[in-house]
Order: sequence, then C-alpha cells, then structure tokens
Amino acid sequence: MILSPRLLEIASCVTEKGTLLDMGTDHGYLPVFLIQSTVIEHAIASDVSLFSLKKAESLIVKCNLESKIETRLGNGLEVINPGECQTIIMAGMGGHLIHDIILDNLEKINQTKQLILQPMNNVSLVRKTLEISGRLIVKEKLVKEGKRFYQIIVSIPGEMAITRKDDYVLGYRPARENTSCFFDFVLSTIEKQRAIIQQLSDKNTPKAKKQLKQSKEMIMLFEEVLNHG
Ligand SMILES: C[S@@+](CC[C@H](N)C(=O)[O-])C[C@H]1O[C@@H](n2cnc3c(N)ncnc32)[C@H](O)[C@@H]1O
Repeated sequence: MILSPRLLEIASCVTEKGTLLDMGTDHGYLPVFLIQSTVIEHAIASDVSLFSLKKAESLIVKCNLESKIETRLGNGLEVINPGECQTIIMAGMGGHLIHDIILDNLEKINQTKQLILQPMNNVSLVRKTLEISGRLIVKEKLVKEGKRFYQIIVSIPGEMAITRKDDYVLGYRPARENTSCFFDFVLSTIEKQRAIIQQLSDKNTPKAKKQLKQSKEMIMLFEEVLNHG
C-alpha cells in the first residue's frame, strides 16, 4: 500500500504496539498500512458514515486483514471503551469536531497513550484543547502536499503550558520537528493574516476592529519567528 505524504507522516508517528483506533477512517488506508508494515498488531477502523466504513471494509477484505482490523460504525469515540486503545488517530477532520470529541470523552482520552491529530482547520483550537485537557504535545510535524500544508500533532498525557501565542498557530515550539517547508508555512500564514486585514480594512464594527488588531499582532509574531526562529 502506498500512502500519500500526509498519511505517511501520520503513520510514522505511531510508536505504540497496542490496539489503535483510526476514528473517521474513510478509506481505511492508515490501519491497513500500519498492520501490513507490522507497526501494530490490531486496529479498529471507525466511521460515522456507513458509506465510508464500507470502503474501509472492502479494502480490509481485499488485503485479507479481517482478523486484525475490526470495523465499527459510530460517532466519535462512542465506538470504544475506556482503556481499549493505546493510540487514537483523528485525521482529516475539522478542528472544532476534534475539540468537541476530546472534551466530550475525557475519560477515554486520559486513558490513551498516544493521540495523533491532523485537523484540517482551527489547529490553534486543538492545541488549546490539549493544553486544558492535561495532554502534552511531544511531536509537531508539518507536511506539504500540493499547495496545502498539514499540521500533525502527537500528544501523550502530561502537563503543558503554551506561553507564546504563535505556538498555537505554528506548533508547540519544544515539539516542532525541523522541516524544510516551515519557512514557507510561516510565510503562507502571514499571507492569510494579510488577506484578513485587506478584507476588513473598510469595516468599522467592534468585531472587525478586534480581528484587525489580532491579525496585526499575529503578523508581528510570525515575522519575528521568520527572523529569529
Ligand atoms: C476527510 S475524511 C478523512 C479520512 C482519513 N482519516 C484521512 O485522514 O484521510 C473524514 C472522515 O471522517 C468521518 N467523520 C466525520 N465526523 C465523524 C465523527 N463524528 N465520528 C466518526 N467519523 C467521522 C467522515 O465520515 C469521513 O469518512
């Protein structure tokens, strides 16, 4: 099985041998790859959509892995019991959904060694959620696929206090991996803030003014990162 660069980077974060849950598995590529490459011995592939789960099931049957990968239909972490999985992956879904799932399932989250998250948006919210949920970010990966950047966050139980505002957006500094595309990522993040400023420049509402101030502050912080790391 050949994975895309994004999925390959996610797979490379798995270090625990025990049962892995790939929540929102869709095609099922990750659990199949991880079993075939003997990183793990047992996986649960779950999805809220029956259509998606059927895709994963076909792949699992095609690869003859029915004895190693279970499929479960359901919303979020309702498909597992506390302590059942050593690793949980939530990839390719929105940051707000990941935030809600973590906060609604703290008992299950607390009993999970590795949490591997790849939000498609609102990544800062996900880092904040981990911070307030007693999770420590131990790895931050950045991968570029086509024109898009994807941030991958690995966390374990532990205390974490994020002291720099830009770390919420660019990745928790002590855990950041050296990546050649980091510079481009910061530049593109600055461009996004500039576009917001451009859109709001003729608006006078208190909300717009607050956002303008925030965007200007963020640009200054990101420029500092570009200049001084
Ligand atoms: C874009 S796909 C991502 C597939 C794969 N994880 C990846 O990263 O390539 C998102 C998947 O998450 C599933 N999903 C969305 N909300 C979910 C929820 N609350 N619980 C479980 N699965 C969910 C969708 O049905 C869909 O199959």
